[in-house]
Amino acid sequence: MITATQLVSFAMTLATADFAFLRTLVADHSGQRLAPRHVGMLEQRLAPIAGTAGLKDVSSLVRQLRRGDDSALSSQVVEAVAVNETSFFRDASVFESLAKGVLPQIVANNRNRKQLRIWCAACSSGQEPYSIAMLLADHFGHLHDWDIRITASDLCEKMIQRAQLGTFSSLEIARGLPTAQLLRHFDRRGAAWQAKPELRERIEFHRINLARPWPYLGQFDIVLARNVLLYFDQPTKQNILKRLRGAMRPDGYLVIGAAETLIGLCVPYQRKEIDDLVYYRPAAI
Ligand SMILES: C[S@@+](CC[C@H](N)C(=O)[O-])C[C@H]1O[C@@H](n2cnc3c(N)ncnc32)[C@H](O)[C@@H]1O
Repeated sequence: MITATQLVSFAMTLATADFAFLRTLVADHSGQRLAPRHVGMLEQRLAPIAGTAGLKDVSSLVRQLRRGDDSALSSQVVEAVAVNETSFFRDASVFESLAKGVLPQIVANNRNRKQLRIWCAACSSGQEPYSIAMLLADHFGHLHDWDIRITASDLCEKMIQRAQLGTFSSLEIARGLPTAQLLRHFDRRGAAWQAKPELRERIEFHRINLARPWPYLGQFDIVLARNVLLYFDQPTKQNILKRLRGAMRPDGYLVIGAAETLIGLCVPYQRKEIDDLVYYRPAAI
């Protein structure tokens, strides 16, 4: 247990050189950019890791990391600085456009193949893939003889474990999940709610670091890379987007976050719109 006094002493120990080291470590491992304004956040999130590892403070943690022989500790640090903010049906208009515009088009195009593949490429604790699974169950229940797979992945092992369980607190449920869908797709588990088995079975979870090469997952009709690109520098973003294109069907849809843009990047996509949704279609290289 870390006391408030220890936290204050940790907060006072992050030297410039230590910050520079952590910034490089995080960028090398996950492509995420850290700026000087993140120092407070770093201190706050790394202090408990130092404490759990039996180290005196964040400086000692950095000293340990500098030795370069503790990859588990490095991963813990990299994962601890990730922003995992998410919610059910985040940016509701995206899900409306998927249900009314994008998916009907894909269903028409794939009617002979009867196959649908969707990848949530930075799924955090799972609200996004479960929102997609509910949308499919509620609007496309007639596709019961289709081969439908939702792939969900994230950098953080802890997030993947949580997402796999499909259990959410009342607070998380209150953020975006309408009562009718809660009652239809979730079972009560004490103070929390767990997605029903048929919803969980729809989703396949993987730990994938987008900044590094990933294994072949298939060719996707829709890739959601929402609210993750903003954490990368331009070259990393460009590299990831090029590789995501390789994971998409030629007539696939890439959806990024409302606050994200591909403007200024040299990437093989064409910007398109359907209803209120901006999406990107793979272009010839
Ligand atoms: C802000 S959340 C977005 C979650 C969800 N897509 C949404 O829009 O609600 C960003 C997620 O990106 C993940 N992330 C950060 N860097 C990553 C990387 N290099 N590879 C894969 N996921 C990463 C974080 O762990 C975090 O869960």
